[in-house]
Amino acid sequence: QKTYYFSRHGESEFNTLGKIGGDTNLSARGRLYAAALARYFNETNIDGLHVWTSEKKRTKQTAQDINAAKEHISALNELDAGVCEELSYEEMQEQYPQEFAWRDQDKLRYRYPWGESYIDIMNRLKPVLTELECENNLLVISHQAVLRCILGYFLNKRLDELPYINVPLHTIIKLTTYGYKYKMEVIKLNV
Ligand code: F6P
Repeated sequence: QKTYYFSRHGESEFNTLGKIGGDTNLSARGRLYAAALARYFNETNIDGLHVWTSEKKRTKQTAQDINAAKEHISALNELDAGVCEELSYEEMQEQYPQEFAWRDQDKLRYRYPWGESYIDIMNRLKPVLTELECENNLLVISHQAVLRCILGYFLNKRLDELPYINVPLHTIIKLTTYGYKYKMEVIKLNV
C-alpha cells in the first residue's frame, strides 16, 4: 500500500491581498499552519517520510519545521501568470479585459501572455508524476493550480474539470492506494 500527502503552502502575504502568483512570505496565519503541519507530521511518525516542495519561498517556509528530507522542484512551482503575475483578479479584469474573458471561456487551455495554461502545467508535471508513482510516504507541498493537476491525475478527473477542483488552504489531502485506485482523505488543520 502506498500513501501520498498533499498540501498547499500556508496562507501567503499575496493570498491575503488576493494577488496572483509572486514569491511572497507566509502571512502570520500561514506560519501557524506551517507549525501545525510540522506538529502533525512530527507526531505521526511516518516511516521514511520525505517532502517535495516547489522552489517558492511560501512552500519552503511551510515545510521548514517538518523533520524529514526535503527536495525543492521547479516543476512544482505555481502556474506562471505571465503579465498578470502580482495583479488581483479585479486588476486583471481592468487592465486586460479581453484576457480575463478568454480565461473565463476556457480556463483549461487559456495561456497567460508570457505565462502558462493548465495544459502547460500538466506537460511540465509529467516527469514528476512518473516519479511520484514510484514513491511512498511522500508529502508534496505545492500550489493551488499544480495540486489541481496532480489530484485530477490521481483521481481520474476529466481534463476540463481540473481548473475547478477544490483544493483549500490549510488542509492535508491524503491519498492511499485502494486496489488500482486511490482513496482520498481530507485532514483540515484548524489555524
Ligand atoms: O491565488 C493563488 C493562486 O495560487 C495563484 O498564484 C494562481 O494563479 C491561482 O491561484 C490559480 O488558480 P486559478 O486558476 O483559479 O486562477
